[in-house]
Formats: sequence, C-alpha cells, structure tokens
Amino acid sequence: MAARRLLVLFGSQTGTAQDTAERIGREAKRRHLQCTVEALDSYDVANLISELLVVFVCATTGQGDPPDNMKLFWRFLFRKNLPSGALCRLDYAVLGLGDSSYPKFNFIAKKLHKRVLQLGGNPLLPVALGDDQHDLGPDAVIDPWLVALWDKILMLYPLPPGLEVISPDVRLPPKYTLHYVAEDSPQPNGILLQPTAPRAAPSELCPFAALVVSNQRLTAQSHFQDVRLIEFDVTGSGITYSAGDVVMVQPQNCPEDVQQFCQLLRLDPDRRFVLKPTEPGTALPALLPQPCSIRHLVTHYLDISCVPRRSFFQLLSCFSTSELEREKLQEFSSAQGQEELYSYCNRPRRSTLEVMWDFPHTTCAIPPEYLLDLIPRIRPRAFSIASSMLAHPDRIQILMAVVQYKTWLSKPRRGLCSTWLASLHPEQGDVRVPLWVKKGGLKFPSDPDTPIIMIGPGTGVAPFRAAIQERVAQGRRGNCLFFGCRQESKDFYCQAEWEELVAKGFLTLFTAFSRDQEEKVYVQHRILENRRLVWELLSSRNAHVYLAGNAKQMPAAVAEALQSVLQLEGGLSPSEAEEYLAALERSRRFQSETWS
Ligand code: 2AM
Repeated sequence: MAARRLLVLFGSQTGTAQDTAERIGREAKRRHLQCTVEALDSYDVANLISELLVVFVCATTGQGDPPDNMKLFWRFLFRKNLPSGALCRLDYAVLGLGDSSYPKFNFIAKKLHKRVLQLGGNPLLPVALGDDQHDLGPDAVIDPWLVALWDKILMLYPLPPGLEVISPDVRLPPKYTLHYVAEDSPQPNGILLQPTAPRAAPSELCPFAALVVSNQRLTAQSHFQDVRLIEFDVTGSGITYSAGDVVMVQPQNCPEDVQQFCQLLRLDPDRRFVLKPTEPGTALPALLPQPCSIRHLVTHYLDISCVPRRSFFQLLSCFSTSELEREKLQEFSSAQGQEELYSYCNRPRRSTLEVMWDFPHTTCAIPPEYLLDLIPRIRPRAFSIASSMLAHPDRIQILMAVVQYKTWLSKPRRGLCSTWLASLHPEQGDVRVPLWVKKGGLKFPSDPDTPIIMIGPGTGVAPFRAAIQERVAQGRRGNCLFFGCRQESKDFYCQAEWEELVAKGFLTLFTAFSRDQEEKVYVQHRILENRRLVWELLSSRNAHVYLAGNAKQMPAAVAEALQSVLQLEGGLSPSEAEEYLAALERSRRFQSETWS
C-alpha cells in the first residue's frame, strides 16, 4: 500500500490560511497520516510531480492577487511549457479563503483548482470557498468540507489495522519542547539587535530596527479619530522605495498585557529557554532568538490580543483542571457550539488574553511548551507609505488612524499595531520599530506627461501623498486629488502642504467635507461636479485614475460617479461606460487599493 502521506501547502497573507493549513495538519495526525504543512514558496515545486496527495489552502488578497508567500509558485504553475499530464498521479483538493465583498471572491483558489485539473490532477472535492463575510466566519464552509475531505482520504488511505481516529479530546504532542536554561547561558540575540551591514535588504525574517523620529497627531483633539503622521529614520538600512509601496511593521504587545499574561500562567518573564522540534524536519520559529526569555516570547511573538479561533478552545480544553471550564471549552470547540462561540468571542472582539481571564483554572495549567501551538504569532501589519524618498531621503512616513472602537465589552477595542505605534515617544530617546518595505499594489505612470487623478478620502490619501511628493520632486505637474474628510477644521490633514502645492501650480485639489453642512458631501459628488475636467483628463490626456481608502460603500460609489462622467461628458451609454471603466482597469489605467 502507498505511504499514507499528506502534504498541505498554503499561501497566506494575514495568517488565516496558515492557521487553517495547520489545523488540517493536526487533523491528519489524528488520522495517523504522515503530514507536512508548508508555505507554497518554501516548497520545492519540482517535487510536486511525484506527490500523490496534496491539500492546497490559499487566500485571495487585494484585487484577486495571490498572497506573497505563493507568488513564485504561482508564476511556476502558469508556465506554458508544463506538460498537460504532469500531475496525473496527484489527488488534490483546494480550500480557498476570501471575502465575498470583493469582486474577485476566492479568485486564486478557483484558478489554482482549474490549473491543477488541467495539468492532470484528480480533484477529491469541489473547491471550498471560505468567506470572511459569513456570519460564522470561513469555518462555516470549511467545517463540512473537511468532514467530506477526511471521508475521501480515508477511503483512499484507510486507517492501518488496529488504529482509530484520535479523538479531539486527546492532546497531541507539542510542536516544540521547551527547556529552561541556566541564568548564565549566552544572551539572546533578539530581532531588535541589528546585524551589521553589509547585508540583504530588510525583510520579514530580518527586519530593520528603524528609529522613530516623529509621531504627530494630525486631527483636532476634539475629533473622534486620532490620525498620526509617524516618521521613521531608515538610514543605513539599504531600504529604497517608490510611491505606491508599503511598509510592513512588526508590532509588539504592551508591557501591561505581557505582565498579566505571565501572571495568569504563573510564568517568570525573566526565565530563559531553548526550543527543540518534536519531529525531525520541523523548523524552529524564525524570529525567536535562542535562548529566549519568556518576556521576549510574549512581547514579540504570541498574539495574545487576537480573537482566538476554535482550535484554541479545542487545545485549551485538554489542559483543563476544572470540570466546569472544560465543559464550556469543549462546547466552544464543538460544531454545535459555533453560534455561541461567535457571540462570546468574534462579535464583541474578545481577545485571547481576555478569554484566558475567563478560564483561570485552565490557563494556569497550560504547559509552556504548548504556547506556540495554542497562540498564533503576531503578524506584521502593512501601511501605505505616505512619503517619497526624493522629498525625504532615508525617511519613511506613514499616515495612520489609531484603531479604536466600542463593542458591548466594557473596555474599548484597540488595534495592536496602531495603539503601539501611537504610544511611542521619540523624544524619550532611542525608540525603534522593526520594519521592512514591500512592493505595493499601486503603480504610478513613468511617463512624465501622464496626469494622474487620485481619489483618497481619509487615510486613503497616504499613497497619494507619496506620489505627489515624488512627482513634485521630479517637477511633474498634472496631479489632481479628490480628498474627503468630515470637517475642514478637524480632520483635513496635510492642509498646509496641499495648499502650498496648489499655490505653486503642482496640484489641483477638490475637497469634500462630509459633515460641514446639513447634507453629506463625498468625493464622488465632487467628481461629478468636476466632470468636464475629469473627462478631459481621461479622454485627451490619457490620465491614470487611482482610488484608495477605507470605506465599504465608497469604491462602488466612486466607480458609479466615474461612469456617470463618461455618460454625461463622453456621451457613452451605461453599458459602454461600464466597459470603458473595465478596460481602464484591465490596462492598469484605473487602479485601486481599498480596505475594510
Ligand atoms: P462620513 O463619516 O461623514 O460618512 C473619510 O472617512 C471620509 O469618507 C469621511 O468624510 C466619511 O464621511 C467619508 N465617507 C464615508 N462613507 C463614504 C462613501 N460611501 N463614499 C465616500 N465617502 C464616504
């Protein structure tokens, strides 16, 4: 009989696809399958031809793009010279993670499924379309799909005689064992200690510790939202970037949360340890120094502020010493308990640390070696760069709204990264942030004569500030910006900068202050009012259009306004206007970057 071996390959941007892949890995172990879980780009794709059983788990990001850690694989898979029967030995299944509020919902998973089929692969199941918009999250689709998947797999690879599926109540061994080391062992080499130059450009595995040089609130104190302009010094990092690029920031937990966590688990934050993989071939966590202190692990690595997933409750229930707590945890991990788990955790955005407070008897019994199985690692956050290196050499600036909102829980919810960044005080000395730069989705025209129309309400204006600075430094005119905010006196940030550029003839600016009058005025209204100019720039000057921002309805409303301009000024029919805009998008003359 063929070896009972399953390979789970994932492409993950925010970590959900990786979590799901790891869940499949754990469920495979419970079925006594040999299983490896790997990022698509870490896997040697030449080996795919000899694989027999693979589950692909992949997210779709942005406007239908593959996540960063599967981009190389993606390019390989679509090579023209791959023979059509190359994967004829392969049984496979594709699990997609996406958001149905975006037009290209689960585009990557669907395309991957089709391509593997075309190369001769045998699908075990139709592709699973996990959806963030579902009330119960992607698990609503994933759970029944996995039940069907295991049925199929166990039909092809039955359990060896005498073995049974290991029940979820039985605890699997941890990924790593943890060994405390003596006080006088070598000092850890943490991520904030920089290796010396020369070296490769900073990256996720080797971030640059950038000095915070300023942190300025741009909105009025009385405004509901705290928006910051934060500046980092990246001298000596080798970092270069262009307008449209993104800076990735690796955040950390605040000292109070770290202390609470250690108290709850009765851990001494100063104790240091080394990790050893339980199974040969498992890599150590890349960003953790060895030896590492408990404080470092909790501060920089464990995401104790995220909303815990179902697998967290499943594993936690195995440690419970209290009958009452175990029963509740088991209920939350069962299929029937998902509504209740959603109301307890997801809806109010309850954090892992807060859940641990609610289960104190279980929490204090967690063996520390299970922490890395239980709690995901802190993910880096992406910010559109809001400056140009031509205007600010060796500097990166971001425009960031501090995330804070209320749920029915008494403590307001705060975004981990923005709260941390906003709390940094450069005047207190050497304040550093681990970061690196990534190519962004927006590409601005290289032809100096091409005008650009930018539509960026709120912090959506960030990449446009970078583009405007870059183009002004190159002496380029033809910059047209539609900016929207609530009130001229409260959140019209960068006003002085824009006004100076308008006076010098570098910028045409249209503002929409939504709450300075009775009725709402938005950027789309200004586009319509200025339709003659917009049409003239599009039709005679080959302008490129860019849209960025954080509003659910905004992108569709702006697209509609642009179509109205095409109809009213260009004389196009509704369907011609729609097609015109779609053609602009295909030729990358209309680009957008939106987030919710
Ligand atoms: P509002 O909060 O007054 O509704 C930046 O957030 C600006 O975008 C604010 O002025 C906000 O207005 C506005 N905004 C909210 N929804 C929008 C939409 N659907 N289209 C365009 N702008 C919108």
